[in-house]
Amino acid sequence: MHLKIALLAGDGIGPEVTQEAVNVLNVVAESGGHTFTYTPLLIGGAAIDAHGTPLPDETLKQTLASDAALLGAVGDNKFNKLPPSERPEAGLLKIRSELGGFANLRPAVAYKALADNSPLRPEITDGADILFVRELLGGLYFGQPRAWDKTTARAHNTMVYTQGEVERVARIAFEIASKRPKKKITSVDKANVLECSQLWRAVVDEVAKDFPTVSVEHQLVDSMAIHLMTRPRDFDVVLTENLFGDILSDESGVITGSLGMLPSATLGGKVNLYEPVHGSAPDIAGQGKANPIGAILTAAMVLRFSAGLEREAKLIESCVVDILEAGYRTSDIARGNIAGQTKVSTTEMGQLITDKVEVALGAAQL
Ligand code: NAD
Ligand code: IPM
Ligand code: MN
Repeated sequence: MHLKIALLAGDGIGPEVTQEAVNVLNVVAESGGHTFTYTPLLIGGAAIDAHGTPLPDETLKQTLASDAALLGAVGDNKFNKLPPSERPEAGLLKIRSELGGFANLRPAVAYKALADNSPLRPEITDGADILFVRELLGGLYFGQPRAWDKTTARAHNTMVYTQGEVERVARIAFEIASKRPKKKITSVDKANVLECSQLWRAVVDEVAKDFPTVSVEHQLVDSMAIHLMTRPRDFDVVLTENLFGDILSDESGVITGSLGMLPSATLGGKVNLYEPVHGSAPDIAGQGKANPIGAILTAAMVLRFSAGLEREAKLIESCVVDILEAGYRTSDIARGNIAGQTKVSTTEMGQLITDKVEVALGAAQL
């Protein structure tokens, strides 16, 4: 199969982790006789530096002409004083809206091998397997009007949702939930305060009628933040709006052991967009400390959703588990002084997984 991938490495650790994801994809391509081509494109701070804009026209044009877009991360502290519309993050939000994907899938799995590395006790995280479905194109991120009026010293943003926006993402969440063993949706909102959330809840209940095998519960976002940490195993598919999903998915990094472990895929638009959940991590950029597993699991999602290579996607996921079980740890998941663990750099972790995938693919073909 042929896959044309727009490569949006971005800033900070973005290029470091994306390279490891590409290495894994290349091994899959070679072994399966597939052709994956990559178009490196500028986005975020790197694009501001080169072209004065976080999303150059060429980047958008080439991405729209690709089969999938693989993004690292954007953002750099040197742009912190700029207004939101001029910052690196504006490039990411613009490409999301131009590509049109509205269902952002963010899986968070508690791997047994990392049970001792999570700040949560193993008996809390054991078996947790959550899929966040985050609405990605609505809510406070895109609502108008928005402004910071310096003369009146007043700023405002607008949270907006339409019935259609809620319905389309809810349908995807229910479809996915109906195929998972637990068949459960937890819809998260703030319906005790916000009209947007009341609409959200009503639409979710309406969509639920079409999926009788799926059970539905509603949770308020504030208490959900604690339930996620105290009883993560009780959740299956967590459906929520844009900002709540942003915050809760980062929080789920605690369940998995690190934010650097989390992948994502955004579906429903013209071109699927794949990006790890973490940001550009300026505090560790350029030091070989970044965990590439979130990006590598994101590459597995590319294979699953844009290439129909489910077997290869699963194989990458199981090779990640094998390498963790063998005790290899980047510094973010090397908490404590645990016997049998070897600390590795970004490239070493990437190489270990790439080699493992190569061997496993070879063995699978015998
Ligand atoms: P961040 O996710 O970049 O980092 C938060 C913490 O997690 C940091 O301590 C960092 O070192 C650590 N971390 C993150 N990814 C890691 C990895 N792969 N391996 C090891 N440790 C990792 O969040 P932040 O510091 O709040 O934001 C930094 C910049 O990134 C900001 O400009 C922000 O807007 C941007 N950002 C971009 C994206 C994206 O491009 N998708 C996502 C989130 C944040
Ligand atoms: C994420 C990030 C982005 C978001 C930012 C960088 C625009 O935090 O992908 O989680 O808020 O969606
Ligand atoms: Mn985020």
